[in-house]
Amino acid sequence: MKIIGQCDIKEIAEMYGTPLYVYDKQQIISNYNKLKTAFRKHYTKTEIHYAVKANSNIHLLELFNELGSGVDCSSPIELFLAKKAGFDRSNIMYTGNYESIDELKFVIAEDVIINLDDINSLKRLLRFHTPERVSFRINPGIGRGGFEGIVTAGSDAKFGVPYEKGYEAYKMAKDAGVKHFGIHMMTGSNNLEPYHFVEIVDKLMNIAGDIFTKLEIVPDYIDIGGGFGIPYTDEEEDLNIELTAKLVCEIFHEKCEKYNFGEPHLKLEPGRYLVGNAGYLITEVTGIKESYKTFVGVNGGMNTLLRPSLYGAFHRAYVYGDKANSNYVNLCGQICENSDIFARHLHFPEVEEGDLVILRDVGAYGYVMASNYNNRLRPAEVFVDGNTASLIRRKEKIEDILNLYEENSL
Ligand code: LLP
Repeated sequence: MKIIGQCDIKEIAEMYGTPLYVYDKQQIISNYNKLKTAFRKHYTKTEIHYAVKANSNIHLLELFNELGSGVDCSSPIELFLAKKAGFDRSNIMYTGNYESIDELKFVIAEDVIINLDDINSLKRLLRFHTPERVSFRINPGIGRGGFEGIVTAGSDAKFGVPYEKGYEAYKMAKDAGVKHFGIHMMTGSNNLEPYHFVEIVDKLMNIAGDIFTKLEIVPDYIDIGGGFGIPYTDEEEDLNIELTAKLVCEIFHEKCEKYNFGEPHLKLEPGRYLVGNAGYLITEVTGIKESYKTFVGVNGGMNTLLRPSLYGAFHRAYVYGDKANSNYVNLCGQICENSDIFARHLHFPEVEEGDLVILRDVGAYGYVMASNYNNRLRPAEVFVDGNTASLIRRKEKIEDILNLYEENSL
């Protein structure tokens, strides 16, 4: 591997240092257009709300705004960044969980669309305000994800209103004087199987049909969440998004007709699908150890990219250049934890100190989950657009760490 977009990786690394996150702008644009076209072909009232949590760099948010996307925010600061990136409040949605009163007050003051995580969230909200519109995140009782840690519905999930309590939740809102309604779910992340989406949409539509028929509600929107997966290995195949869109829209149409919903907006909240495969993490080999096993240590670890140690996630790794794989190594970072291992028993080329090692598919849940563990500094981020590379966030400095201490305590 040598290039990202049309930029040479070594040149980018020399210019900005390592470790370094690099995002391919054209890849993001193409992902967005692919998803939008697939769904709009079958349902013109489809709206994409990019899930800011996947990658909240403000320059990526600006790009999504230019592309005409909306956003879904999960914290007040994500909402603040979305506004700063230029999003109109009508395109901003907010989906929190265990939302505090202060958080609810902040979101309500911003006048954006809100999906409430619980019936008690509504009770907290009603203490100070009766909104025009209410939507609940429903836990439809089933969820599926790439691994256990990213299943966000079903009986073990902390999210959403259990669907059996959905009627009670909407009734409380209606009785309180709420006039407009939406419904939401997010059941799991990184799904590569189109029929999974059919199953959950079918379930949500029936839940909505049951509740809304009883309460004589016609929903403004139905939000089926994100969860569209990407392959992380050579063996996995792309999610067939055309088929997914076709099947989802078929069931959506059918149920809208059955329950007399008219034509509500169909909202999607993709994160990973839009940015995941556009991101690369460039690291540099800092040490090679022949221990009981061979360890190749690089200057980015679980502090830079947490997914492997948190979930056992796999990211393909390449050495800059075109050396063939020749031995088996354990690729690790510099953090004082034995879970700071990107990959075990990885078929890898011969490397030397200073070689560049590039991890793929880190555009989603990469930088956003990075930390200062061991007081290592967070890396810079770069946007590549064709043959141009530009810095979109500088590397952290020691001053950024020191700034958090009260001045007189140092
Ligand atoms: N909407 C809501 C309310 C969500 O909670 C999420 C992700 C999304 C949308 C976007 O889901 P996506 O399209 O990216 O699957 N850190 C994990 C992923 C956690 C996902 C949490 N919620 C990872 O690194 O795989």
